[in-house]
Amino acid sequence: MGRIIVVTGANSGIGKKAAHRLAGEGHTVVMACRSVERAEEARRAIVEETGNEQVDVMELDTSSVDSIRSFAGRFRERYPRLDTLIHNAAYFNHGEAYRLGPDGTEITFATNVVGPFLLTRLLLESLKASADPRVLNAGSNIIKHFFDPKMQLDFGTLRGLPVGVEEPSVYRRYCRSKMALLMLTFALARELESDGIAVNYLHINGARMSKQTIAKFSLKFRVIARVQNLFLRSVAYMANNYVELAAGERFRGVTGVCFNDRLEAMAPGNSETARGLDQLRFGLGRGHYPWRADDRGLQERVRSICEELSAGAPTAA
Ligand SMILES: NC(=O)c1ccc[n+]([C@@H]2O[C@H](COP(=O)([O-])OP(=O)(O)OC[C@H]3O[C@@H](n4cnc5c(N)ncnc54)[C@H](OP(=O)(O)O)[C@@H]3O)[C@@H](O)[C@H]2O)c1
Repeated sequence: MGRIIVVTGANSGIGKKAAHRLAGEGHTVVMACRSVERAEEARRAIVEETGNEQVDVMELDTSSVDSIRSFAGRFRERYPRLDTLIHNAAYFNHGEAYRLGPDGTEITFATNVVGPFLLTRLLLESLKASADPRVLNAGSNIIKHFFDPKMQLDFGTLRGLPVGVEEPSVYRRYCRSKMALLMLTFALARELESDGIAVNYLHINGARMSKQTIAKFSLKFRVIARVQNLFLRSVAYMANNYVELAAGERFRGVTGVCFNDRLEAMAPGNSETARGLDQLRFGLGRGHYPWRADDRGLQERVRSICEELSAGAPTAA
């Protein structure tokens, strides 16, 4: 039987390709996108090319608590269960200045961490109704910066820039969000294990960026992205990984894993105690994620921050 699968940000890049592949395999795919117009265009092509009519577009802005609540309510009304939730949408408008999202949370963290947290929470009953429920978080190799012992997971600039605090760079904001997402993956995998819900993280180490994505970057980053694209694989490779993790029989019941691009389980690597070649192996290889992601205290901190920030916009005193 086909699965019911939600893919956020499915109108472009890896998400769009994965939606296409999943529809091609006969699954019901819900494309959860902030632009219904762009998503409809992608949906039409997917239906035409796969012949699968069970492809739906539903509006969702993962940076907005109201939008997530509305989406979850509409999803529950429309679908009897949810088999896989793929948190693919992400904010990485490289070159853009620090800014807050609609609820007053730094936009990268709101979109990439708080959104997935809240959406998962609000869809728990739908996930529990599945015989094999799975949540997949789209991660990034940018977290390798956390092999640098000096790199801190800073939470001080999530609700605005305190006086005298320098704006964190776009890389730091994106890096923080994807590291926090890995920690959240581990925390939620533990929490949801008794409900049989699997939660995993895919460490994405590059996929060709679309013209639309690159157009969101500042001039400097547009040039860098175009050069990077010459060396990056097409999105199809990573989309296949989404499909495997979302629906593949061999991943049934597997939870709390950070997967690399070969779908091998990565292990924590402690570059603070490693020396020489080991350090190099951690940074350049595909076998390890920064061991600090395993810190349960930090994982719980990320979860409680998400709980606090997903309450919505702060009320005026
Ligand atoms: N490509 C890479 O090299 C690479 C490397 C590491 C990790 N990743 C991760 O892989 C995933 C997919 O990336 P991609 O390369 O396929 O990028 P992409 O083509 O830019 O796709 C990102 C999608 O997220 C959507 N999105 C952004 N903010 C949103 C919001 N607030 N609400 C709903 N949707 C939103 C975008 O929608 P709009 O079209 O409306 O903007 C777009 O559909 C992301 O999680 C990214 O962080 C990619």
